[in-house]
Amino acid sequence: MREKLIRPLIAGNWKMYKTPSEAEDFARELREIPKFDDRDILVCPPFTAIAKVRKVLDQTGIFVGAQNVYPAEEGAFTGEISPKMIKEAGAQYVICGHSERRQIFNEDDEFISKKVKIVLQYGMIPILCVGETLMQNEAGETFNVVEAQLKTGLKKVSDNEIKNVVIAYEPVWAIGTGKNATPQQAQTVHSFIRKILKEMFGDIASSIRILYGGSVKPENIDQLMAEQDINGVLVGGASLKIDSFSRIIGFNKNH
Ligand code: PGA
Repeated sequence: MREKLIRPLIAGNWKMYKTPSEAEDFARELREIPKFDDRDILVCPPFTAIAKVRKVLDQTGIFVGAQNVYPAEEGAFTGEISPKMIKEAGAQYVICGHSERRQIFNEDDEFISKKVKIVLQYGMIPILCVGETLMQNEAGETFNVVEAQLKTGLKKVSDNEIKNVVIAYEPVWAIGTGKNATPQQAQTVHSFIRKILKEMFGDIASSIRILYGGSVKPENIDQLMAEQDINGVLVGGASLKIDSFSRIIGFNKNH
């Protein structure tokens, strides 16, 4: 098997969990776990905890991200948060178009494409989430759905910017359900995603990180990371506890 050249990214999405003080305590624990120089680690706390977590993780090499952003510099958008605000709070990455945003808050691909663009303009790294629902999966529409999400979601991204974009494939039926895609199922979609990226942006596609997300746990991380086109993971539930998250960070793809 060809050795992977892409530096893996292990990302935790804390969703609507952890108050600022709880997040700060967790970041302190994270500071103490063994480090690896061949992989990147990212945590995405709720907005209210970004600044505190960034401060605790300063100088550790562990990155901090936001879970969402509103695609405007500022303005009368009650309840929303701007790229400038999260950047100043310490965000280096931003999750864009998570399936919970798409499903619960009706975000569509057009709107998500604006988020991806503005995050790049502010010098942060967007993680564009794509993935099919159970119904779409059962109807055999996985590839069509993912292709459309990529093509619209990335349509404002220039050839120069694409190297700073991360893609996360998260089949909706696998999120928070305990039902993960098998490593082979995920690999098939990841390699399809890389093919679409190649059509859109050329050879740079071979260096773009494609993460898998959906019920990633200590029990399946090694097998997932052994797949050629899986360059990391986006972890929800299992990123909230230090034991499971540190085991995931310490994955061994040759296991
Ligand atoms: P999960 O969530 O790991 O709890 O399935 C993943 C995600 O929503 O990013």
